[in-house]
Order: sequence, then C-alpha cells, then structure tokens
Amino acid sequence: MAKLYIRNAKALVGTHPSSVRSVAGDRMADLPVLNDAWLLCEDGRITALGPMSSGPDIDPSAVQTIDAAGRYVLPGWCDPHTHTVFAASRDAEFVDRINGLSYQEIAARGGGILNSAAKLRVMDEGELFERSRQRVLGMIRQGTTALEIKSGYGLSEESELKMLRVIRRLKEDLPIRIKATLLAAHALPKEYASDRQAYLDLIIKRIIPRVVDEGLADHIDVFCETNYFTVHEMLRLLEAGSALGLAGKVHVNQFTSIGGIPAAVTAGALSVDHLEVMEEEDYTALSGGSTIPTLLPSCSFFLGIPYAPARRLIASGAPVALATDHNPGSAPSGNMNFVVSLACIKLRMLPEEAMNAATLNSAAAMALSDEVGSLTVGKRADLIITRPMPSLAYLPYAFGTVPIEQVIVHGQVIDLNDV
Ligand code: NIG
Ligand code: FE
Repeated sequence: MAKLYIRNAKALVGTHPSSVRSVAGDRMADLPVLNDAWLLCEDGRITALGPMSSGPDIDPSAVQTIDAAGRYVLPGWCDPHTHTVFAASRDAEFVDRINGLSYQEIAARGGGILNSAAKLRVMDEGELFERSRQRVLGMIRQGTTALEIKSGYGLSEESELKMLRVIRRLKEDLPIRIKATLLAAHALPKEYASDRQAYLDLIIKRIIPRVVDEGLADHIDVFCETNYFTVHEMLRLLEAGSALGLAGKVHVNQFTSIGGIPAAVTAGALSVDHLEVMEEEDYTALSGGSTIPTLLPSCSFFLGIPYAPARRLIASGAPVALATDHNPGSAPSGNMNFVVSLACIKLRMLPEEAMNAATLNSAAAMALSDEVGSLTVGKRADLIITRPMPSLAYLPYAFGTVPIEQVIVHGQVIDLNDV
C-alpha cells in the first residue's frame, strides 16, 4: 500500500469535519487548524491525522516521510472557474487597453471572445491539448489540485465539442480532479449575428443533448450580460441543461446588473460568478446560501473594473468562493496564490476567509467538496506544503512570491521541476 507520512507540520490547515461541505457568512472566518501535527496518506487518500504529541505508530524509515517543520500543510487550491483551454494569448488587446480602449470596445470591434474563437476553430485538437496541458501543469506547480474548465471559444457544434474533448483528455492525462463546463453561450458567433434564436436552438436542440450523450460536461454556463445573453435566454439554457443533469454555473453581473442573479438562484444554479456590479436584489437573492457566489479578483485587477463586494456578501450570510477565471482576455493568470492575496488586499477578506473560499467553498462551487477542499480523513490527499513562514497570514501578505515548497496530488509528491 503506497503510504506518505507528513510529520512535524507547523499546522495542518482546514481540518474541517467531513459533515461540513461549505462555510457561509460569519463561519467563513473559522478555519480549523491543528498545530504541530502529522498526517498520513494511503493509496491517494488522507487516512489519519493528529498532533505530534500522540503520533501514529509508524516507523518513518519504512514509509515515504516528509518533515514539514516550520511549514504549513494546506488542502490544494480548488479553482472552480477557468477558461484554460484556449488557442492563443491576446496580448495585442492588452496593449489596446493600455492605449485607452475598454474590454467592451475591443469586443465590439470583433476582438475579445470572437477573436479567441476564430483562433481556436482553426487549431488542431492535438495542438490545443498540448498547449492547454502545459498551462494546467503550470497551475499545479502553483498549488492548484482541482479545477473547472469551460468550453466557450468554439461557438459552433464542432468546435465546442473539440474543446470539451480536450478537457476530457486533460482529465485522463493529469492526476488532478477536473470538471468540464459547457459554455456555448459565451458570445453570439458572427454567423448568427442576425438570428440569435437559431444559435439558441442549436445549443438547446443539438449541442446540449450531444454533449450529455457523450458524457463531455458536468455543468452548463451562460454569459448573462448586456450585449451577450439576456436573463430570459440564460433561463432557457439553464432549464435545458438541468433537464439533462447539467447544473448551472453562470457568468453574471460583470459589467451590469440585469437580474441574472435572482433568476439563476431561482433556477437552482450551483454558482453565480463575477459579481463586480451588484444591486440590493442581488444580495437578497444570495442570502439563502444555496447558490455559491464565486469571485474573480484577478479579472478586476487585470481589467481595472470594480472588485466584487465580498464583505457585503459575507455579511449577508453567503458562502463566498474564489477562482482565477484564467483566460486570455480578462485574466491571463492561473495563480490561486495571487487570487488569495488579492482577496485579502482588495476584497478585505481575512486570510482565514480567503483560504476557506479558495479550498472548501471553491470545491463546493464545482460539486466536489465531498472529495477535496479540506484536510479530512477520507478525502483525496491533495496537499500544499508551504515554504517555512512565520504565520498563515504571511502567505497572502507576501503577494507575488512563491509560497509553496511541495505539491502532493492523490498522495503523490509532484516533482515541481518536472511540471
Ligand atoms: O469570465 N466574461 C466572460 N468571459 C470571460 C472572458 C472571456 C474572454 O475575454 O476571452 C470572463 O471574464
Ligand atoms: Fe469567466
């Protein structure tokens, strides 16, 4: 039996009981830790943990042992909103924005999502897989051990399927947990500019059934926003998805508040993501806690748009989650360490709140919190071992540095030079 024994940890962080699947409101500040502790993994799972004062009956020379003195052991980061499968960067648009154009102006000129779609459609599937695989390896190196990836740069039946097949290959090829989301309603493709009903019909009548039939997606997403898809269109798509077992995870309130949040909550969406622009009715809709608000501070940082009001969401009792939004247009970084720093610095989340949001709650935002997101006996042994640091708050405080010394996925130490 493959065993890994971690001993002398400064603390095990996020030792939630298995009954806790997410934390909301005031409870987000409760991040359980076990000081001066050990943890045992067997066959990819956490099988025991405890304080060094009552260590396990183990001969360290007989099993693979890591001495974590001075270091914290955390659950690997869970990143529940990414667009990591894409053909190419959009650094020319980055320079256009420095020169004064807005994200929306660039999109209106045919840049943005349609620019990415044009490049992805002509790229060979093998090449798309290789490029995406390299990006995911880079994210693992930065401590991400569970990940959601969306389609949405295909915008045709053939190319959306191509993206989802690439995500399936990533699931098969890499040791981390990956969830796939169908985002065919990311933008209206040029071919349908004068007939949006036909595109919605294509998604509802052909793409969703085929994707479900081939087992290619776990969730469905819609970009519900002025100039993209309306609330009514989002509801039609969520209904068609949920009828075939795809739970909703939707883009809402990035630039405007048009009623997407109350509608998505009523439709039973698993998460509502972005939330940079919020109205009173949006907070009210989320206070029940059934839908997870997922905040993407790297997008606000990169586009210079407002940061989501995390404090107000927490005060209203919501279970806030964090994600990178990794994509070539609005957040070209898959670094969750930076997201956790931004959450503390810009969203004014406490380090404990940000860490719960980037582990347990973000696992819940992709329906994975029974498997990952905390240091709990029975869960997957997906772990971060930090560099030596004086306190847990030092991790988000030292923004932009690499806080991680080792990453363990499914009980296996990842060779960080190799990925
Ligand atoms: O989450 N807002 C919509 N989708 C992405 C950006 C996509 C792009 O610009 O390529 C986002 O920010
Ligand atoms: Fe996004």
